[in-house]
Amino acid sequence: MNITVIGQGAIGLLWYHRLAENSKNHVSLICSSRTTSVPKEIKFTDINNITSSNVLISANNQILAHAELILCCVKSYHVAEAITSLKNRIGSNAIIIFCHNGMVNFKQLPNLPQACYTLLTTHGSKVIQPFHVQHTGLGHNDLGLITGTAQQEQQAEMVTTLATALPSLTLSHHIKEKQWLKLAINCVINPLTAINDVENGQLLQQKYNKIIDKLLTEIISVAKYEGMQFSLDELKTQVLSVATMTGKNCSSMRSDILKKRKTEIDYINGYITNTAKSLHIKVPENEKLTLQIKALELANCQH
Ligand code: PAF
Repeated sequence: MNITVIGQGAIGLLWYHRLAENSKNHVSLICSSRTTSVPKEIKFTDINNITSSNVLISANNQILAHAELILCCVKSYHVAEAITSLKNRIGSNAIIIFCHNGMVNFKQLPNLPQACYTLLTTHGSKVIQPFHVQHTGLGHNDLGLITGTAQQEQQAEMVTTLATALPSLTLSHHIKEKQWLKLAINCVINPLTAINDVENGQLLQQKYNKIIDKLLTEIISVAKYEGMQFSLDELKTQVLSVATMTGKNCSSMRSDILKKRKTEIDYINGYITNTAKSLHIKVPENEKLTLQIKALELANCQH
């Protein structure tokens, strides 16, 4: 397949390498417009700690016009910009897959005629140096249609291509439920680890029990209006199980704060807060954490 990956972050480069390993694929990359220098080669350290190099092919307008699949792996706050710059350069039949943390309201973005999917991944990957990523943990990919109409043959080819490159992968017909589950996990783990400056596993301590319950109860009340039914017990079990499995990890939001970068708070607890506002529901704990993270971002900018 002709595939263009957008974003040179941990997940974008993981996909680039794994897809490019298959000679049937023609893979290219679009780097962020903020990147000052793009190398000719990129490095990849696999799950067995073996490092290899790959030629970096940058996507130009001609490559984009022939792309069959676009894998958009940018932060949630760059999705709108990525769509705007792409819209008139790709064919109306090119599938777009979005892979990011948090919830983006696609109704507020430029209208796209093609089939758009979201991909939720639990694979672990980290940037060791610019343009060198390491695959740190095997995981699972859930893929589901979010807008447009799926073309069966095209969809089957895409699923085979992605599942071969980075197993395992499920095409889900309940992707909205999975997105909400991931959102709830991120709403708890990300701000609490960032504010308290702790590894994910620390959240298993008794002192976080009450705040986790309050956050999840608020999320459940908002999710209900979007047609999602969750029980507190079920959701809490999932959150604590991810905190256990990723116990030694530094969450993405904690890393962003430590590295003085913008966080995805507006698309995580901020999404809950804004949705609740439009529904006239009160979510004080989610609102408080959103404000605390924004204060940390601001303090980082001023130093
Ligand atoms: O954003 C993250 O860091 C991850 O999605 C998760 C699951 C919270 C684990 O660190």
